[in-house]
Amino acid sequence: MLALQSPLDMHLHLREQEMLQLVAPLSARSFAGAVIMPNLVQPVNSRDRLVSYRRAIVSACGTDTFIPYMTLFFREYTREELLAVRQDIIGIKLYPAGITTQSDAGVRDFDSIAATVSLLEELDIPLLVHGESSGFVMDRETEFLQVYAKLAGNFPKLRVVMEHISTAASLEFLERYNNVAATVTLHHLLLTLDDVAGGLLQPHLFCKPIAKTPRDRDALRQAVLQGHPQLMFGSDSAPHPRHAKECCGCAAGIFSAPVALPMLVQLFDGAGCLEALQTFVTGNAVRFYRIKPPEKMVQLRQKSWRVPEVYGTVRPFLAGQELQWSFADQDN
Ligand code: NCD
Ligand code: ZN
Repeated sequence: MLALQSPLDMHLHLREQEMLQLVAPLSARSFAGAVIMPNLVQPVNSRDRLVSYRRAIVSACGTDTFIPYMTLFFREYTREELLAVRQDIIGIKLYPAGITTQSDAGVRDFDSIAATVSLLEELDIPLLVHGESSGFVMDRETEFLQVYAKLAGNFPKLRVVMEHISTAASLEFLERYNNVAATVTLHHLLLTLDDVAGGLLQPHLFCKPIAKTPRDRDALRQAVLQGHPQLMFGSDSAPHPRHAKECCGCAAGIFSAPVALPMLVQLFDGAGCLEALQTFVTGNAVRFYRIKPPEKMVQLRQKSWRVPEVYGTVRPFLAGQELQWSFADQDN
C-alpha cells in the first residue's frame, strides 16, 4: 500500500461540455487539484469566462475533493484587469500563436509583451509558458530557450514555469535560474520519437512538444527520480476524440489522466525511488506556487489492472497495457 498526500497535476486540459464531464472525474479521482489550461475554443481570457469555466469544472468533479487552479490565456492585460482576477488564478498561460491545439490567439511578437509581463512580475502572478519556436520540430524547445532567458533575466522577480519540458537542454537551462520551475509529463518520462514514429505511426502518442531522443528522456527521468527541486508533475493530459486522432491530420495531445498516478508509482517504485514521488507530485509545486492544497490522501496498492481501450470517445495513454499499481478502492 502506498499513500500519497494531496498529489497535484500542475498542467491539465479538461475541455468543456461532454468531454469535461467524461475526463474531469478521472483527474479528480487521482489528484487533490490541478492547474487548468485555458486553451478552450474560446480562450479563457476574461474573469467572466474564468468564473463560469471553474463552476463547470467543480460541478463535473462531483463529490471528489479537487481544486481547479485556474489560468488565464495570455493577452495584453491592464493592471485593473489583473488586480481584479489575481485571487482567482494561479497564473497566466502564454502560448506562441498557432504552436499547438487552440493557440491561434497566442503571442505573435515576443517584443510586444513586456508591458504585461512587467505587470505580472510586479503583481507576483506566475507566467506559465508553452516554450516552442516555430522552427524544426525537434529543435523548437531548444530554440525557445532564448525567449525564456529574456523572460527570466529581464524580469528577475517573475516566477516562470517552463511547461512540459522534453529535453536535456531545458533541464540544464532551468538550473541556471532560481525564478524558474518546470513541469514534466508522464509521457516525456517514458517515450522517445521512436515510439511515436519509429514503426507504424502512433497517433495517440503524438503531442506537443513531440517526444525527443533517448538521451533527453533519460535525463528527465533521472532528474525527477532524484527529486530535482525545480520539477513538478504536470500530466498535460489532453483528450481528443478518436476521430480527431485517428484521421488525416491528427490532433496533438495524449490523454493520460486515468493512468498518470498509477504509472508514476510504477516508474518510481521500479527505480527504487518511491520517496522522491511525493516531492514530484506535491512538494515542489506547493513551494514554487505557494499554494496550500486541500488534504486528500490517495491510496494505491500493488495489484495489477488492464488499462481500458477507451474511455467514452477517447483512447487513453497505455491503452490495453497492464499496470502494476491500482487505486486502493478500484474494482480490478
Ligand atoms: C494540448 C491540447 O491538446 O490542448 N496538446 C498537446 O499536444 N500537448 C496543448 C498543449 O499543451 O500543447
Ligand atoms: Zn498542455
